[in-house]
Amino acid sequence: MRERLESLRIDALRRVGEATGVEDLRAVEKDFLGKEGAVAEILGLIPTLAPMERREAGQGANQLKTTLLEAIAAAKAALEEAEVAAQRDAGGFDPTLQAAAAKRGGLHPITQVRRDVESIFTSMGYEILDGPEVELDYYNFQALNIPVDHPSREMQDTFYCDEDHTLVMRTQTSPVQIRAMERMTPPFRVIVPGRVFRNEEQDATHEHTFHQIEGLVVGEGIQVGHLTWTLKRFLNELFGRELEVRLRPGYFPFVEPGFELDVRCPFCETGCRVCSGSTWVEFCGCGLVHPNVLAAGFGEREDVDHEKLTGFAFGFGLDRLVMLRFGIDDIRNLMGGDLRFLEQFPC
Ligand code: PHE
Repeated sequence: MRERLESLRIDALRRVGEATGVEDLRAVEKDFLGKEGAVAEILGLIPTLAPMERREAGQGANQLKTTLLEAIAAAKAALEEAEVAAQRDAGGFDPTLQAAAAKRGGLHPITQVRRDVESIFTSMGYEILDGPEVELDYYNFQALNIPVDHPSREMQDTFYCDEDHTLVMRTQTSPVQIRAMERMTPPFRVIVPGRVFRNEEQDATHEHTFHQIEGLVVGEGIQVGHLTWTLKRFLNELFGRELEVRLRPGYFPFVEPGFELDVRCPFCETGCRVCSGSTWVEFCGCGLVHPNVLAAGFGEREDVDHEKLTGFAFGFGLDRLVMLRFGIDDIRNLMGGDLRFLEQFPC
């Protein structure tokens, strides 16, 4: 019996060693440990054996069973590992290569420049305000001294949100001027960065969705000198050098007097593509807050005497600054969402 068991063991382990797949192992298991396998056969013989031999046969058979189960499990693990390794090598996987760097997102170029603008103005004591993009006609036009039939509404092709035209996609950030006056106590200085919308034919310099930064300062004795000083200071800071500014008359119903402010071209001395050869770049609309606007904004306030107040306001296009900063020549790229474009401006 002992020899019989020993030869079974040798046979079985040889077959385990020669197995090239999991199926081979299953076959070994069946042949030796299955219901009709070799071990079962020996156990079946036990009653026919002499009492002295029974114990030896039983113990030997059980030991053989344990040995085999262990050998099969070990062989199975080795086979599986080899299979994974083979798959990995076939895929060209090289574990010694460095891991790919995780992809990092970045700030949109508009966000980058907006933050620069905000930090310059906050350093000058300005607060940053926000306002709704879907705005009441009242704030977007009427309170800004633009009555319903005023021709200046035609200057701004408006997206209306309802039949009776009480709700609009704001065409400018100026409505937040009124919202600020309703809530803040003068003197105050605020800027309002935000998205604005106009129903315009799109081309390289026109988008239906773009960004403005509004500025509003209200207090006693505010005059045009404060306005030009502030915008000059801001532009010097933004472009990192001393730049001249100039005012031209400009018409906006909510300021009086109203101006267009130009800045000396930051990119040339004698004329270039950016300034169309003129050495001046149009920068923004601005002026002193119209008394009607102060009345609309502060009129209901018992704690504010708006007749004693003056203020200045300005509004400029952020997209234009972004285009200047990064040398972008088509505004439609900014809202296009194309990563190939955006990835050129990492930060
Ligand atoms: N809201 C004006 C525009 O969109 C700009 C402006 C703001 C002009 C404030 C004067 C004062 O064109």
